[in-house]
Amino acid sequence: MQLKTTAFHYMLLLSALPLIKTTSTSPEKQAESLIKWKDDLSSSSWPPSLLNSWSLTNLNSLCNWTAIACTKTNTVSKIDLSNMQITGTLALFDFSLFPNLTHFNLSGNYFRGPIPSAIGNLSRLTTLDLSGNKFIEESQNQFSGPIPPSIGQLRELQYLDLSANSLNSSIPSELGLCTNLTHLSLSSNNLNGELPLSLSNLKSLVQLDLHNNRFIGQILPSLVSNWTELVSLNLQQNNFGGTISAEIGLLTQLQYLRLYSNEFSGEIPQSLGNLSKLHVLYLFDNHLTGEIPQSLGKLTQLQLLDLSNNHLTGEIPQSLGKLTQLLGLYLKHNHLIGEIPQSLGNLSGL
Ligand SMILES: *[C@@H]1O[C@H](CO)[C@@H](O)[C@H](O)[C@H]1NC(C)=O
Ligand SMILES: *[C@@H]1O[C@H](CO)[C@@H](O)[C@H](O)[C@H]1NC(C)=O
Ligand SMILES: *[C@@H]1O[C@H](CO)[C@@H](O)[C@H](O)[C@H]1NC(C)=O
Ligand SMILES: *[C@@H]1O[C@H](CO)[C@@H](O)[C@H](O)[C@H]1NC(C)=O
Ligand SMILES: *[C@@H]1O[C@H](CO)[C@@H](O)[C@H](O)[C@H]1NC(C)=O
Ligand SMILES: *[C@@H]1O[C@H](CO)[C@@H](O)[C@H](O)[C@H]1NC(C)=O
Ligand SMILES: *[C@@H]1O[C@H](CO)[C@@H](O)[C@H](O)[C@H]1NC(C)=O
Ligand SMILES: *[C@@H]1O[C@H](CO)[C@@H](O)[C@H](O)[C@H]1NC(C)=O
Ligand SMILES: *[C@@H]1O[C@H](CO)[C@@H](O)[C@H](O)[C@H]1NC(C)=O
Repeated sequence: MQLKTTAFHYMLLLSALPLIKTTSTSPEKQAESLIKWKDDLSSSSWPPSLLNSWSLTNLNSLCNWTAIACTKTNTVSKIDLSNMQITGTLALFDFSLFPNLTHFNLSGNYFRGPIPSAIGNLSRLTTLDLSGNKFIEESQNQFSGPIPPSIGQLRELQYLDLSANSLNSSIPSELGLCTNLTHLSLSSNNLNGELPLSLSNLKSLVQLDLHNNRFIGQILPSLVSNWTELVSLNLQQNNFGGTISAEIGLLTQLQYLRLYSNEFSGEIPQSLGNLSKLHVLYLFDNHLTGEIPQSLGKLTQLQLLDLSNNHLTGEIPQSLGKLTQLLGLYLKHNHLIGEIPQSLGNLSGL
């Protein structure tokens, strides 16, 4: 009897072995690790009912948890905690456990502290959004310190948004390795230094937004001339200087070009007339000299043209009368002479 029972127990143990094995596979490790991270987070409405499903009693349904999506092999592929009023850090997030993560979105929360360099472990990431909320001041992430150079290991990144934080390094040249990037936003931080020339490798960029930082240096021809897919280039509110490269005229997909509130000097390049899809051209608050190029009259899609607060001279070109979509034309605080061209009378939307 005694022996039988022991054998029975032994058999029970054997049949439990596969179970024990499953508990050591990745999905459970991932679940436990997410709970550990969650326990270090807080929310203005704690406990955040939104994350109730993240619990030890619910370990086996990881793929059904709020804000989580999985691959076919039941490992986590997406974490989307955007706009959940969460306060916390990434200190306890175990990056090495999530090699198949493709989407990581923490935007619009109250995260703070550094972006750990272990983020380079997320080598499948296509979307990384750690941005603060750009529209609601109170709901800001405050990631601080440097952009880790390991970001260059995220070779499949397409969307990178680190805007509206307190990052204060220069851009690591390794970012130029992320050649699949289409959307790059680093706006509204304290980033500084010159743009690394390696960014010229980002040939797929559609949107580049670096506004409201402390960047310096020139926008060199070699930097911009590969960015031929760009639709939106926002470099405003920095300390960029030197002349505006004529090569910007190569970016023929551009619809939005904002270079205002910088230290740009020299003339407005004629080549801007090549940007026939342009809707918005903002060059105000710089030190631009010379005449307004006639060629701007070729920008027939232009809706907003602001060249104010520069040192422009000469007359207002007749050709501006061809900008029939124009809604706003700002030329104040320059040294322009002569009469307002009659052709402007045709701009009925102004
Ligand atoms: C996830 O939810 C679906 C339906 O909501 C359910 O059919 C499925 O069994 C759940 N899976 C787990 C592992 O809990
Ligand atoms: C990652 O995904 C692949 C294929 O989708 C799978 O074979 C592999 O086990 C996953 N690795 C982890 C650690 O989840
Ligand atoms: C992150 O989530 C927010 C809110 O849902 C969304 O607006 C944003 O587009 C997402 N970020 C990316 C890069 O997809
Ligand atoms: C992965 O993360 C570990 C720490 O969790 C770190 O030591 C390692 O350097 C990281 N690897 C990469 C490629 O970033
Ligand atoms: C950048 O921010 C970190 C964290 O806030 C701070 O410790 C560091 O001194 C700052 N570095 C610079 C150069 O401002
Ligand atoms: C970039 O994306 C393409 C397809 O969209 C893919 O084939 C390629 O492997 C990606 N490159 C990298 C470095 O991930
Ligand atoms: C454009 O990118 C290629 C590699 O992707 C690089 O070799 C070349 O130097 C870049 N062009 C310029 C003008 O920087
Ligand atoms: C602008 O277009 C003209 C032809 O319309 C071309 O000759 C010139 O090279 C172009 N300039 C730039 C910088 O793209
Ligand atoms: C205004 O437009 C009409 C037709 O679109 C054109 O004939 C005329 O020359 C234009 N007037 C000026 C002053 O450019």
